[in-house]
Amino acid sequence: MQLSLLRSIYGDGAAEQVSRYAEALDVFRTAYGPGEALIFRAPGRVNLIGEHTDYNHGYVLPVALDRDILLLARPRPDPAVNLVNVESSYAAVSFTISPAIPSAAAGHWSNYIRGPAQAMAQHLGRTLRGFDGLISAAAPFGVPRAAGLSSSSALTVAGAVALAHINDWRPEKTRLAQFCSEAEWYVGTRGGIMDQFIALLAQRGQGLFLDCRPDAEGRYTTSPAPLPADYRILIANSGVHHDNVRGGFNQRVAECRAGVALLRPRHADITHLRDVQDAPWAQLDPHLPETITVAELGQRGIRLGDLPGLAADLSLRVKARCRHVWTENGRVLAALAAMRGGDATALGRLLDQAHASARDDYEISCPEIESLVRAAHEVDGVAGARLTGAGWGGCIVALVRAGAVPDFETHVGRRYHAETGRQASIFACRAGAGAGWVGAGR
Ligand code: GLA
Repeated sequence: MQLSLLRSIYGDGAAEQVSRYAEALDVFRTAYGPGEALIFRAPGRVNLIGEHTDYNHGYVLPVALDRDILLLARPRPDPAVNLVNVESSYAAVSFTISPAIPSAAAGHWSNYIRGPAQAMAQHLGRTLRGFDGLISAAAPFGVPRAAGLSSSSALTVAGAVALAHINDWRPEKTRLAQFCSEAEWYVGTRGGIMDQFIALLAQRGQGLFLDCRPDAEGRYTTSPAPLPADYRILIANSGVHHDNVRGGFNQRVAECRAGVALLRPRHADITHLRDVQDAPWAQLDPHLPETITVAELGQRGIRLGDLPGLAADLSLRVKARCRHVWTENGRVLAALAAMRGGDATALGRLLDQAHASARDDYEISCPEIESLVRAAHEVDGVAGARLTGAGWGGCIVALVRAGAVPDFETHVGRRYHAETGRQASIFACRAGAGAGWVGAGR
């Protein structure tokens, strides 16, 4: 791959990508024989602020990473998809594209390619061409896995971009992003649209403000968000991945849906929590119970929709969850204003407030994340720090003055190890470019 081309994607980090792309092409040729491969890529993301707001049609402000997933593909004449991985620990997989593709075991990585393949077959209503493919997502260039940095959405988006290209489907980027977010429901989690939108719409060097509520024509509002000069976005990965991410995630979705249903008698048109964003909290608060069970909601005729795994005796903490979403939306708007005004101090304060809300009202933190956030605050030059992503482990994101980055790396790493016995992996986010077709190689 030409360095100039890689520079337009990776900026200063382009030179180190040359050998990574060469290796991927090499493994591809070994697996499938000589000839051309089309190269697609999709980045992971770190969410600066706006957590668990997207599926409530609220605001988010993510930044794409320069860490990505490469998908090399050679189109096939038939609907077969064959996949190998540069990491030999991932066994080869094959499936056939159809409107009903059997899924692999829960959690298997190939489900993130099966999802968009099935959705595209349903959407286009014709037989699709598959491909012989190779995934390259190894460290240090790949998106860290199970870390709340959206490696799974990057895989979904890479698969969708490749399949769309091979099958001559050329939707607008926002349309494709929306398609990808629904395609990912194939794996069972009812996530929102943030991860797929940032993966596709990111512009290098900038964050992305996204209003997750579509207008009457189904279009979304986005705008680039300038990152504060003289500051760096640091990510510290706790290395913890709690098993309850999936169950806990759907439960949070249920709690928000319960809030919507309980507010409906007074807000007839409400479909998502966003619809009451302009009402004062004091007006909403009295109508939201601290807790209510799924069975009690059922007795009031309230069903929570297609959410797998909700037991009747599950207690939902409705008021606190809705309060988080309501206050978080306000913080995202304030964060965008702070970024536009170049006010890193105000932005940092908002990150801290967002963390407190995620920890106390949304209850998605854990001891390891708390240890990282505490350690971050002990470093002089840290404007703010918070958990990022779905929660229950994963990473924190911190806004750090450029000159304080070495102190941050040393102190947070040391302190975290002393408190938890674990190693945090810490790296700076260089806001990367959005997903797409890179070019052809051989
Ligand atoms: C996951 C989901 C996103 C979003 C975040 C929480 O990453 O995929 O849609 O809901 O969690 O903000």
